[in-house]
Amino acid sequence: MSLTGKKALVTGGNRGIGLATVRALAEAGAEVHFTARSAANIAAAQRELGGIPATGHHANMTDRIAMATLLEQGFDILINNAAVIGPIGCILDVSAEDWATSIDVNLTAAFHATQRALVRMVANGGGTIVNISSGAAHRPQEGWSAYCAGKAGLAMLTRSVHLEYGGQGIRIFGFAPGVVDTDMQGAIRASGINPVSKIPRADLAPAHEPAKAIAWLCTAAADALAGQELDVRSPDLRAAAGLPPIT
Ligand SMILES: NC(=O)c1ccc[n+]([C@@H]2O[C@H](COP(=O)([O-])OP(=O)(O)OC[C@H]3O[C@@H](n4cnc5c(N)ncnc54)[C@H](OP(=O)(O)O)[C@@H]3O)[C@@H](O)[C@H]2O)c1
Repeated sequence: MSLTGKKALVTGGNRGIGLATVRALAEAGAEVHFTARSAANIAAAQRELGGIPATGHHANMTDRIAMATLLEQGFDILINNAAVIGPIGCILDVSAEDWATSIDVNLTAAFHATQRALVRMVANGGGTIVNISSGAAHRPQEGWSAYCAGKAGLAMLTRSVHLEYGGQGIRIFGFAPGVVDTDMQGAIRASGINPVSKIPRADLAPAHEPAKAIAWLCTAAADALAGQELDVRSPDLRAAAGLPPIT
C-alpha cells in the first residue's frame, strides 16, 4: 500500500480514529497534515506520533475562513473525520442550539471542507475524500437524534459528490469505522442511554484497524467502491484492506 507523492489532510487528527489515520497515511508514504483545535492538542498528537512526520494546523472545523485558507494549499486526499457525539439526550431534553451546533460540526463543516477541497481536486483531475460515517447514519439510536441526522446527511453528501464529480476523477467514500475504543465511546458509555452505551470497553476495536482501512481506501485498489457507504465490519472489505476477520 503506497501513498507516496500524495498530500493528505485529516480533520480532527489529534486523537482517536483521526490520529490513527494520520499515522496510517504517513506510514503508507503520504505527506500528512491534520487539524486540531489548539496548539496544545497539536503538540500532544506529535508526541503520540513519536517522530512519524505530520504537520498540525490549528483550526476549528466550523471556522470557514481558517478551513478555506488551509484547503487552498491543495490536497490529494481529504479525510472528513472530526465530529462530536453530543448533544446526547432525548429530543425533549436537548436544546435546538446544541442540536444545530452538532449539525454544523458533523455535516455543514464537512460539506464546506469537501467543497473547498474539490476546487483544487477537480482542477488537478482527481482526488480522494473519505467521509467518516457511522452505523448511526442508517439506524437511529435513542438519545442521538443530532448525531444520527448529521451522519445520515453526510452519507447523502457522499452520494451527491459521487454523482456530480465521480466522472471527474473524484473518488469519495463513506466509511463506518465500527465501534472503536476512543474518547467518543467513553462519553457514550458514560451516558448509559442506548444499547451502544452498554457495549463493554473490552469489546471495542482498536483505532488502528479502521485507520488501516481508511488508508487503503485512498489507494487505487479501492476504485470500484467509490461513491458507496462502506462498513469496516464487511468481511470482503476487511480482507481487501488487510484486516483480520472478526471472530
Ligand atoms: N469511536 C467510534 O466507535 C465511532 C463509531 C462510528 C463513527 N465514528 C466516527 O469516527 C470519527 C472519529 O471519532 P472518534 O471516536 O475518534 O472521536 P473522538 O475521540 O471524540 O475524536 C474526535 C476528533 O474530532 C475533533 N473535533 C471535534 N469537533 C471539532 C471541531 N469543531 N473542529 C475540529 N475538530 C473537532 C476532536 O478534537 P478535540 O480533541 O479538540 O475535541 C477530535 O480530534 C467521527 O467522525 C465519529 O463520528 C466513531
